[in-house]
Amino acid sequence: MKTKKIAVIPGDGVGKEVVPEALRVMEALSQLHGGLSFSYDTYPWNCEYFLKHGKMMPEDGLSRLADSDAIFLGAIGDPRLVPDHVSLWGILIKIRREFEQVINVRPAKQLKGITSPLAHPAGFDFIVVRENSEGEYSEIGGKIHSGEDEMAIQNAVFTRKGIERAATYAFELAKTRKKRVASATKSNGIVHTMPFWDRVVQEVAAKYPDVEMKSYHIDALASFFVTRPQEFDVIVASNLFGDILTDLGAAIMGSIGIAPSGNIHLNGKYPSMFEPVHGSAPDIAGKGIANPIGQIWTAKMMLDHFGEQESADLLLEAIEAVLEAGIKTPDLGGKNTTKEVTDAIIRKMKELAE
Ligand code: NAI
Ligand code: MG
Repeated sequence: MKTKKIAVIPGDGVGKEVVPEALRVMEALSQLHGGLSFSYDTYPWNCEYFLKHGKMMPEDGLSRLADSDAIFLGAIGDPRLVPDHVSLWGILIKIRREFEQVINVRPAKQLKGITSPLAHPAGFDFIVVRENSEGEYSEIGGKIHSGEDEMAIQNAVFTRKGIERAATYAFELAKTRKKRVASATKSNGIVHTMPFWDRVVQEVAAKYPDVEMKSYHIDALASFFVTRPQEFDVIVASNLFGDILTDLGAAIMGSIGIAPSGNIHLNGKYPSMFEPVHGSAPDIAGKGIANPIGQIWTAKMMLDHFGEQESADLLLEAIEAVLEAGIKTPDLGGKNTTKEVTDAIIRKMKELAE
């Protein structure tokens, strides 16, 4: 394999703490596997950058990222410095949209060694495929009037293309897994976009007779994530529904600090971007106790994306072994630091590789 060129954006808060840890793990992996190597270009774009320069990234920011093999991002946002909608749209959503990262993939899997807050977790292992380019996250709309007449309108945008490619991604993924797709809808309450979503998902489903498909209203689906998550395999959802479901997925795993995610570009024109589900966690930033596993598992997804299955599997195996050994940050009820968890994962990878 040629050297993979990674654009690194640590971002804000705990992003700056967990990204270097994940890079240490990747370096250790490349030492274990002769063929695997990475080069890194690190960009200091975050809320402090905004205070200095009046924007989240320079004008040519996107073109600097464009020739990388993947973007590896920590978390963006420091509401004490910059309003969240400004920081998020200034970089994260910009990259997702401009680089046509139209699919957001977020696994939730019960890991060995972690106590799920569910009473009977029964070994769940599912992946949410979130439409990542349109839907409820739209710039169309506006505000009018003030005072008691003040009002705001935000238009949700659903296109046939957008729904089709999310559904197709979900069905293709399900084919490699347990062959079940659940579609998140709300066609009883949202009467234009959601029946359209249902119809297009059905059309895609018809091309995959071997994959079982079932639609769920989003509210019921959310409750099933708690009462019977083990029944799900791949869930396809619109932008907002997928976002909310995946925080719930992270919660039933035991902590949002372990949940990984990938923003996938499909046409080979732009890089995909890998980032954990969690944000910059201002409440624990700077204390050295952020859980690095979300970022490290995210590195594993990037390795999967590069087709480096063996290294990716080794990494997840090491993560589970470390958790089983009780080496955990406080969000999982442990006493270990960010660095101690990473060190243990690196040691375990070396042990397992021998
Ligand atoms: P958050 O995910 O940063 O924090 C939620 C809770 O989870 C906090 O109690 C935090 O301490 C905990 N947590 C998060 N990551 C953790 C880790 N690695 N280890 C241990 N505990 C962890 O979400 P919040 O508080 O809503 O947002 C904080 C900032 O992050 C905001 O500026 C928000 O806009 C931004 N954000 C950015 C995202 C991104 O870059 N993709 C995603 C979500 C939020
Ligand atoms: Mg979220």
